Amino acid sequence: PFIDPFPPLPTLYTSFGFSLVALLATLYTIPAVGPAFIRANLKGVDLLKRDKTPIPESQGLVGASIYILLLILFIPFAFSDAISGAAAAKTVEGLSVIEFPHYQLSVYLSSLLSLLIATVLGFLDDVFDIRWRHKIPIPIIASIPLLMVYYAERGNTHVVVPMPLRFMFGTLVNLGPLYYIYMSLLSTFATNSFNILAGINGSEVSQALIIALSVILNDLLYLPWPLDFRIPLYLLGSSADVEVGGVWSAGMSYGSRQLVERHLFSLYFMLPLVAVCAGFMYHNWYPARAFPGDTLCYVTGMAFAVVGIQAHFSKTLLLFFIPQIFNFVLSCPQLFGLVPCPRHRVPRIDHETNLLHPSKALFLTPPTKLSSAVLRTLAALGLTELTVHPNTGTILEANNLTILNWFLLRLGPMNEKRLVQVLMCSQVAGSVLAFVVRYGLAGLVYDG
Ligand code: UD1
Ligand code: MG
Repeated sequence: PFIDPFPPLPTLYTSFGFSLVALLATLYTIPAVGPAFIRANLKGVDLLKRDKTPIPESQGLVGASIYILLLILFIPFAFSDAISGAAAAKTVEGLSVIEFPHYQLSVYLSSLLSLLIATVLGFLDDVFDIRWRHKIPIPIIASIPLLMVYYAERGNTHVVVPMPLRFMFGTLVNLGPLYYIYMSLLSTFATNSFNILAGINGSEVSQALIIALSVILNDLLYLPWPLDFRIPLYLLGSSADVEVGGVWSAGMSYGSRQLVERHLFSLYFMLPLVAVCAGFMYHNWYPARAFPGDTLCYVTGMAFAVVGIQAHFSKTLLLFFIPQIFNFVLSCPQLFGLVPCPRHRVPRIDHETNLLHPSKALFLTPPTKLSSAVLRTLAALGLTELTVHPNTGTILEANNLTILNWFLLRLGPMNEKRLVQVLMCSQVAGSVLAFVVRYGLAGLVYDG
């Protein structure tokens, strides 16, 4: 078995140490600055509690600040190999033979830039309450630095065609600019999809936490472990080592240094994210003492888009968003105006029993034929519940189209804490399914 001094384990340990600092800093700072947030009018009432004392909102700003500052402090450590290597080369030969990895530095810096833009825009959204229709293009703009770096590297824009379709398209299809559009849409999807799966204590931050852990697990599969650990991956078929440029394609060997470097980069960004989310979750857990606001949704979403694009696993990443994709697709009739969309779609609470029930969207004017058809289809699929006029059959009300209301419809009323636990279980189940699809089934469809 080959034993390579690579990956730089001390750097990984340093990243781990930084993450512990991030955890402690978040745990301490969130309650410490809460009163200052309230004074600045950054507060909200908990919709599902009797107690209407304002709770500090957009405290995701604190998490985002800690996260980004630590990532900046980490830069010299991430490049410590290059720094010491260049110094050694100079003393031995009188001139530097080891090139500084400028490309990786631009990957790192452009990622920070995107995270910063996401923070600013998320915070603006918290302060000015931008309508969701206007929120869509914001992260697309924030992703431009990432796409530029991807372009500079001549990042792959080919997609490997599944075997059954090859007679039509051939083995590889170059999506070209479409691939860039796909990646920019990924950033807007990742940010907004957390924001519309929100409203109960712990929901936003737990999604980010579980996805970050899944990404870490996926990254660990690509590190050059001693051979014994890699055998199970080989058994899963060659598809496990062939995602290049975010697409399934052949040609990159498992131990390839570049592949390892990309996943190390992803780990450097994901480890502190897990720490910040875990620290935040402590204060956001039922009953919440702090709200994340749109800032946290934007920053965490952007962090996933960043690693997915920069480490070239955007399709695997999308697999970790199964609950968010479900919630988004289900929400579409409300997002695109077919069904009325109230300001808040969170479940309704019955204070007598402390149980949550699905909340309803009320039709003030009778629904159009198209809206009725869509709603009746969704109701037939068990995704929503309709109240119809007893005589005319016109739809009067429909359950708000969110995954949270759907859980309540299928599983019956439950309290807020149980509902967030159900959401977390679905996220974990989604990740398990993602790994099965990525490493188990891909081999059936792609021959590597
Ligand atoms: C999105 C959702 C909206 C949902 C809201 C809840 C869409 C299109 N929009 O709107 O349906 O009601 O998020 O965050 O799906 N809050 C709680 N408990 C929590 C977290 C938030 O009661 O655990 C409430 C607080 O009053 C808080 C408010 O939600 O002030 C924040 O809502 P905001 O982020 O402004 O809503 P949107 O993102 O616009
Ligand atoms: Mg929000």
